[in-house]
Amino acid sequence: MKILDSSKPSSIEQAVETLQNGEIVAFPTETVYGLGADALNPVAVARIFEIKKRPRFDPLIVHIGEKDWIFKCAETIPPKAIELMERFWPGPLTIILKKSRLIPDIVTAGLSTVGIRMPSHPVALELITRLGRPIAAPSANPFGYMSPTKAVHVANMFKDTPLIILDGGNSSFGIESTIVSVSENSIRLHRHGAISIEDISSTAGPLSEKGDSGLCESPGELPYHYAPHKPLKIIRSFLEIETSQSSFLAFMPPQGKVPSKHIKTLCEKGDMREAAARFFSCLIELDQDDVDIIYAEEIPDTGLGKAMMERLRKASKKYSS
Ligand code: TXA
Ligand code: MG
Repeated sequence: MKILDSSKPSSIEQAVETLQNGEIVAFPTETVYGLGADALNPVAVARIFEIKKRPRFDPLIVHIGEKDWIFKCAETIPPKAIELMERFWPGPLTIILKKSRLIPDIVTAGLSTVGIRMPSHPVALELITRLGRPIAAPSANPFGYMSPTKAVHVANMFKDTPLIILDGGNSSFGIESTIVSVSENSIRLHRHGAISIEDISSTAGPLSEKGDSGLCESPGELPYHYAPHKPLKIIRSFLEIETSQSSFLAFMPPQGKVPSKHIKTLCEKGDMREAAARFFSCLIELDQDDVDIIYAEEIPDTGLGKAMMERLRKASKKYSS
């Protein structure tokens, strides 16, 4: 385990060499930290699945450093995909397209499509462009756990794995990218994330949500995910808390005495960006408390709130089903 300060040029150099040797580097993005390998090296990519204990049917996102790489990674690029890429890249939007032959099958878990995104974090961009090839990366957490938004989260989650971690500070969005698939005439949402669906539809027209077609096209869309080790229950208000052996994740500062041992507040005045940026790091901290249960207060289900609620619902399903 080695944490490298990304502001030193020698750190980026070492990270690039590590990737060139077919090894893994954890690196910062504006959403969450990723566990990266050279996307064009199938053996290196296989290592990601091993380290993360991720099922092989769950495809990885390909991170590119320049928009033009989309033409190398994807077979066909519908006009709506170009519009989305021009509006939101670099940034937290993953676009699923028909894959080209350049992308190894292991990256897409055998699917004929590939998820592509150009991150905006300067360290991620520098790493990818210096490598000169795309980086395949899932979030840098063990499979099923919450995503890390700081280098130290990654270090704690992979204590026993020899791993290089590029420290680029806190991820500013704090929540994973929004994922859409784009075909000639439609856009489908696969995962709520750091860009709201309102913003996407105002650029490229209406999008259908998953479930509309009844198909499960994202093997990673498992019923539970993003889960803390502790049981998590969503509640409307802290008045529903049943035990003091609990932690409480409040959306805004609670008005009254909360009976929990430990309380974290996502934002002061309802700013969703602020809440999302703190979301996983608050939950990761609460998960370390000596309590029986984490209660999470419902978050308004609009904009980025939808992405946070989707994650809370999945986390709570781990124990309720
Ligand atoms: O913000 C993010 O997206 C972060 C950073 C590191 O970029 N990455 C991330 O990756 O969240 P991961 O692997 O934890 O989640 C990606 C999701 C998975 O649920 C996977 O199944 C889905 O994207 N996915 C990837 N490629 C896909 C494809 N071709 N078709 C359908 N779903 C895909
Ligand atoms: Mg993930």
